[in-house]
Amino acid sequence: MGMGSRALVLLVTALLSATVQAGYVWVPSAPPQEIDAKLARLQTDAAAHKSAVAAGKRAAFFCSNCHGESGVSALDNIPNLAGQNAIFLLNQIDKFGDGRRNDDFMSGLVKVLKPEERFNIAVFYASQQVPPTPAQNSAQAAAGGKHFSRACVGCHGAKGHGSREIARLAGQRAGYLVTALTNFRLGKGSHADPRMTSVAKKLSVAEIAALAAYLGTLP
Ligand code: HEC
Ligand code: HEC
Repeated sequence: MGMGSRALVLLVTALLSATVQAGYVWVPSAPPQEIDAKLARLQTDAAAHKSAVAAGKRAAFFCSNCHGESGVSALDNIPNLAGQNAIFLLNQIDKFGDGRRNDDFMSGLVKVLKPEERFNIAVFYASQQVPPTPAQNSAQAAAGGKHFSRACVGCHGAKGHGSREIARLAGQRAGYLVTALTNFRLGKGSHADPRMTSVAKKLSVAEIAALAAYLGTLP
């Protein structure tokens, strides 16, 4: 992202948070069973899936400034959303919206999205592909693979694809992973889920770097 578009993002972010402060009321998403039923319907109805993806892409036009056109992020400290589990994405958007998770940019932005837009955005990003990044240092990535098998596969899965409640890590940007793991390790920030912080507390700085190098290479 060039300086011009970064300035634009900051400007629009400021305008959107002004809108939010001007009284936009957060509408919670439907209960989990209803969301599950909606997602299950999309799996058996290709035309409905296609139109949800198209609506999600339209609703996500502004998100692409940071997360990339198809959810493959343009910046190392901003997470890829492509290929992430739909429920995980929707849950995280809802957490930013109702204040359970906080980020200077994200928290204001998602507040203006209606429940249907949030659902469609999650379906859109989940349907996109994330390309793996070749390792720059293969010894470091191999060491990361060992830590991953030892400490992470139980929750994030052998291939790092996650599940409905747990993030996909495969192909994720290294800079974002290092920041997230460091914050978990220090128990810092609103994203500090106790299931994650207890694991991350035991990681060294070198192990975090190795894990990030390895996870980026996973398809
Ligand atoms: C100004 C840049 C910016 C814009 C625009 C932006 N995001 Fe984000 N997004 C971020 C950053 C930075 C994070 C990481 C925040 C953190 O670490 O808690 C993030 C995190 C997320 C996450 C959590 C991902 C994860 O793996 O935990 C989701 C979901 C998300 N954004 C969705 C969106 C949606 C939907 C939009 C559009 C409405 C959007 N973002 C627009 C910067 C942005
Ligand atoms: C006991 C289960 C568990 C184990 C083991 C575990 N995690 Fe997690 N992890 C979670 C949960 C749950 C979340 C999602 C928290 C949330 O809802 O934001 C998470 C989130 C993350 C995130 C943030 C992803 C994102 O996009 O928001 C990263 C990075 C991560 N884990 C890396 C790891 C690594 C690396 C290991 C091994 C060293 C590991 N995790 C082991 C449960 C686990």
